Amino acid sequence: RRLVVLISGNGSNLQALLDAQQSEEGLGGQIVAVVSDQADAYGLERARQAGVAAEVLPAGTYTSREDYDQALIRLIDDYQPDLLVLAGFMRILSPAFVLRYHGRLLNIHPSLLPKYKGLHTHRRALEAGDNEHGVSIHFVTEELDGGPLVIQAKVPVEVDDDEKTLARRVQVKEHLLYPIVVRWFLQGRLQLQGDQPQLDGQPL
Ligand code: GRF
Repeated sequence: RRLVVLISGNGSNLQALLDAQQSEEGLGGQIVAVVSDQADAYGLERARQAGVAAEVLPAGTYTSREDYDQALIRLIDDYQPDLLVLAGFMRILSPAFVLRYHGRLLNIHPSLLPKYKGLHTHRRALEAGDNEHGVSIHFVTEELDGGPLVIQAKVPVEVDDDEKTLARRVQVKEHLLYPIVVRWFLQGRLQLQGDQPQLDGQPL
């Protein structure tokens, strides 16, 4: 089974997936390409180091989101992925894109959805005085950060937290959780039935 990972930046979640692939347990498939919209994304370097194809598709020359997404689809489909994983890919995807990969497109979002869709989630959790925060992994649908939830992990918010310390605590959970969920999918255990994610045939 084949997996393509979309990134825009550091790629620490990509690294967690690469590491899982190298581990004894494996990932249940192969990361066949990493695609970034940013040429300087450090995650591209991580891909190259791991011997994985690193592709860049800058948005600059495209006049519309739809045009860009069509080019992105062509690039991705060359790799014939069974699963597409968003790992810090900082572009909103068009309905056509999301529809094409319906049921095989996952995203990780650093909040306890439905709280704090969009950007600056750690800051917003701190400003709201929340005493817990966390990460969500979900199937992607047309609604930004709104698709069916697969799993969440919570972390406590400590009194002396700032955005950085809180983000770090959440990222530890991200790096644990994403490989597990990707493995479930690639092993055929996780599916989207209609709008309902199922694990081993049981609704999540
Ligand atoms: C992560 O916090 C992820 O939840 C969010 O973007 C960040 C990506 O970090 N979608 P990295 O590039 O994987 O280090």
